[in-house]
Amino acid sequence: MPNNRRFLLVKRPNGDPRPDDFQLVSTPVPEPAAGSFIIRNHFVSLDPAQRGWMDDAPSYMPPINLGDAVRATTVGRVHSSANPDYAPGDWVLGLNAIEEYSVAAPGGFTSKIDVSRMPSPSYCLSAMGAVGLTGYFGLLDTAKPEAGETVLVSGAAGAVGSVVGQIAKIKGCRTIGIAGGPAKCKRLIDDYHYDAAIDYRGKSMQALAAEIAKAAPGGVNIIFENVGGDILDAGLMNLAPRARIVLCGLISEYNSADGKIGARNLWQLLVKRATMHGFLIADYVPRFAEGGTQIAKWISEGKLRIDEHIIAGIENAYPAFMLLFSGGNEGKLVLKLID
Ligand SMILES: NC(=O)c1ccc[n+]([C@@H]2O[C@H](COP(=O)([O-])OP(=O)(O)OC[C@H]3O[C@@H](n4cnc5c(N)ncnc54)[C@H](OP(=O)(O)O)[C@@H]3O)[C@@H](O)[C@H]2O)c1
Repeated sequence: MPNNRRFLLVKRPNGDPRPDDFQLVSTPVPEPAAGSFIIRNHFVSLDPAQRGWMDDAPSYMPPINLGDAVRATTVGRVHSSANPDYAPGDWVLGLNAIEEYSVAAPGGFTSKIDVSRMPSPSYCLSAMGAVGLTGYFGLLDTAKPEAGETVLVSGAAGAVGSVVGQIAKIKGCRTIGIAGGPAKCKRLIDDYHYDAAIDYRGKSMQALAAEIAKAAPGGVNIIFENVGGDILDAGLMNLAPRARIVLCGLISEYNSADGKIGARNLWQLLVKRATMHGFLIADYVPRFAEGGTQIAKWISEGKLRIDEHIIAGIENAYPAFMLLFSGGNEGKLVLKLID
């Protein structure tokens, strides 16, 4: 039997996760119990949400137990099975962990997948996974954009943000993206067809608000918020009347050790009669096929570009994960465990 390398959470991070919050261990691959099966994970999704699951705080999911492998969505093939519906070799997507082999059973997020028409099975974690579908449902179902409206996206060059910006353009909107650094801002224009790009690095909230005002003199109709903090505050100062804000993520606050930063310009919601809507992709699981079909169509028509940032080797899980917080990832961050 091969060994199973597993990336465990052994301490709860206080602020930025540190290497000694984790431990890479090697254990024997278990035998599947009746009804279950073992997945050999090929690709593991690295997501900002995992940082929240490391905290012992109330959330939409229980915290990861200390000593457990870090929870993650994975794509892999059935290695051995004690379930007649899952045969060795079948491709499976599921909420498992950063580990080479996972014990799984049908139900929850676990499902067999057809990867035959995808450029790579990793697309189940990016374009056709929670990331692409967050962009799709978060924008279309929550904000309901109309042609001619202005959409402001933070984290605009990231996995979710790049999809949001492109779908907004497909729907005839004007798009403004906020990202870190000139190279990412260039990609906003060249690769994701944003109409305007704003580099937030080194800028005060007031300076950012002024740049947004210059790019959107009539105000923004929709904010797709991935970052929070000063960036959200700057967007709030530029709302058009009856603007809609999709609160998708607050990554700038996930590693905050001394209390959350919070938004200080919420009064603009009442001034502009705006609405802010918390969005969670888990609510859309029954509609994944609908969103996935449309996304696949846009990709095949050349209307939607998907970038993946793939890092090989479970031994690189920690430095790879930290790219999400330094802005080092260019596209959906995925850990590749097998060729
Ligand atoms: N609600 C849901 O169901 C749902 C689902 C998926 C994702 N999300 C959220 O969506 C957001 C984006 O996730 P993703 O998977 O697409 O990740 P991502 O954007 O591909 O990667 C994270 C990016 O966030 C930016 N960032 C990190 N720390 C920052 C800070 N302190 N200030 C400003 N920007 C910072 C960096 O880009 P720069 O180089 O531009 O700084 C980094 O590349 C996250 O907040 C995540 O939690 C929510």
